[in-house]
Amino acid sequence: MNELRMAVIGIKGVGRGHVEAIATDQRAELVALADLDQSAMEVMAAEHSTRAYTDYRRLLEREEIDAVVIATPHHLHGPMCLEALAAGAHVYLEKPIANRVSDADRIVASAHEKGLVVAVGHQYRAFPGNVKLKEIVDSGLIGDLNRILWQWLEARPETYYDRDIWRCTWEHAGGGVLMNQTSHDLDLLCWLAGDPVEVSAMIRNWGHRHQVEDTAVASIGFASGALANVQLSTCSHTLNYRQIAGDKGMILFQDETNANVHVPQVFRVGTYDTSMRDTIGGGGGTVSRARPAWRDIDCSDALSPTLFDSFVSAIADGSAPITDAASARRTIELINAIVLSGIRRKTVSLPVDRDEYDELMDELIRGDVKVEGSG
Ligand SMILES: NC(=O)c1ccc[n+]([C@@H]2O[C@H](COP(=O)([O-])OP(=O)(O)OC[C@H]3O[C@@H](n4cnc5c(N)ncnc54)[C@H](O)[C@@H]3O)[C@@H](O)[C@H]2O)c1
Repeated sequence: MNELRMAVIGIKGVGRGHVEAIATDQRAELVALADLDQSAMEVMAAEHSTRAYTDYRRLLEREEIDAVVIATPHHLHGPMCLEALAAGAHVYLEKPIANRVSDADRIVASAHEKGLVVAVGHQYRAFPGNVKLKEIVDSGLIGDLNRILWQWLEARPETYYDRDIWRCTWEHAGGGVLMNQTSHDLDLLCWLAGDPVEVSAMIRNWGHRHQVEDTAVASIGFASGALANVQLSTCSHTLNYRQIAGDKGMILFQDETNANVHVPQVFRVGTYDTSMRDTIGGGGGTVSRARPAWRDIDCSDALSPTLFDSFVSAIADGSAPITDAASARRTIELINAIVLSGIRRKTVSLPVDRDEYDELMDELIRGDVKVEGSG
């Protein structure tokens, strides 16, 4: 395969890492950058001998590129991705795929129609610990999933939002802790448990002065029959806790040092001698104290391709990237369902009614409705 001619739109935050990765990858050539911040971009463009544009549309019109990385604030993902696809470029899009599932639908349809690859930056699916977790669940070691308890908790002070105001508005971020911090966790949850079909949630702005939710608690039903409860907050001490229970055992994981788990790690896995269904279906008194046999599973040997590797392979051989657009749409659809349920105070069945969610977002942006606790 020839080198991929690539551009990056949005270069100051996480985009900087993408610029460095492309510039040092033998399979790619960095040809152009786009950002509103001309001075920051010109420094970077000079360093990498690329062209620089303050208007990304000019870049798409003028440059002969094979692929583009989009690393801009959330509300720009949908429009920028669609324009890049229209210009014939494969897209590596930072998460979330879009703020609204209706925009994600347009991206999935356009990529399919044009035969172009869209990969979304849910790179937690490629982290060794999560790769191992998926392997364990898919192997059937703990049987079919029954219930999941998942917590992502961390404190984000106001200074975090003051620095980049786009992170805390419905218009730009499209949500708070759900969209910004925990879209990775909700993405992993769907990756492990499959399609969500029902959501009942409460969301709050518990402690911040901005518009969007900083705390969410949701019960989620999956097509498989598994039930999950998630607790997500930027108003807490740090904790990432996962308990994944199935018919034949359970997985436990806890990290109080870093909620954004990304290093190889050890999961505790407990398996039962007798499956839970047989235990509860059998005799032997009124209570059965089934005790799992516990062992630690070291994840450091798990194979973990990077999302960029998978993006490049998908372009070369037509395979689906690890985080393809359809699976990233499922994640944003779950987030939209949690917001819809939390604000409208009702149980939401999936697929989410696109018009209903678009209407809710318009009301949130105008300030006609508010998340409880917000100013
Ligand atoms: N995958 C991850 O783990 C991860 C980590 C951090 C951020 N992100 C995602 O990356 C995206 C960017 O986040 P960030 O933290 O880098 O934000 P940021 O605000 O630091 O950077 C955004 C960049 O986009 C530029 N930009 C804004 N509007 C633009 C426009 N119209 N045209 C061109 N450039 C424009 C800004 O000038 C800035 O350089 C978000 O979607 C965020 O959720 C993902």
